[in-house]
Amino acid sequence: KWTDSERSTIQSIFSKIDKDVVGPAAISRCLIVYPWTQRYFGSFGNLYNAAAITSNPKVAAHGKVIVEALEKAVQNMDNIKAAYAELSVLHSEKLQVDPGNFKLLADCLTIVIAAQLGNDFTPDVQATFQKFMNVVVSSLEKQYY
Ligand code: HEM
Repeated sequence: KWTDSERSTIQSIFSKIDKDVVGPAAISRCLIVYPWTQRYFGSFGNLYNAAAITSNPKVAAHGKVIVEALEKAVQNMDNIKAAYAELSVLHSEKLQVDPGNFKLLADCLTIVIAAQLGNDFTPDVQATFQKFMNVVVSSLEKQYY
């Protein structure tokens, strides 16, 4: 259940961020600081070091896909689990992503968004964003249990 204030906070975050930067930066950060996450992206080519990751066009494109998926969650805030049902099946059955990794990417997204929003990322905004990402993560995990 979301309060009106939480809804407007989430909408405001997504209206302020530069999506073309946040998605690629967050997935790159995840691949760099948690290098075991690279194992799922064998088809993305060279992920040999941080410079290769941040300049890899497939990584950047995938970052934008992830932000688009988050926007779908924003548009379906009352029903994120249903909105993510297929995505959860894909990650568990086809991609076989270890579900612990969802939280790692969520944290990278939080860090990148915090850096981009600066003073607008207040403790209240952070708490609401965390709540939102927790729902996103648990919706992705749903198929695993
Ligand atoms: C694909 C979203 C976390 C691995 C995708 C797709 C979306 C998505 C929308 C494209 C699905 C399609 O093509 O139909 C998300 C979201 C995440 C998340 C919202 C968490 C916030 C992760 C994590 C990993 C991962 C943590 C692995 C460490 C993959 C892989 C693909 C994929 C390997 C296929 C990429 C390709 O071959 O193009 N994800 N994902 N995802 N995801 Fe995730």
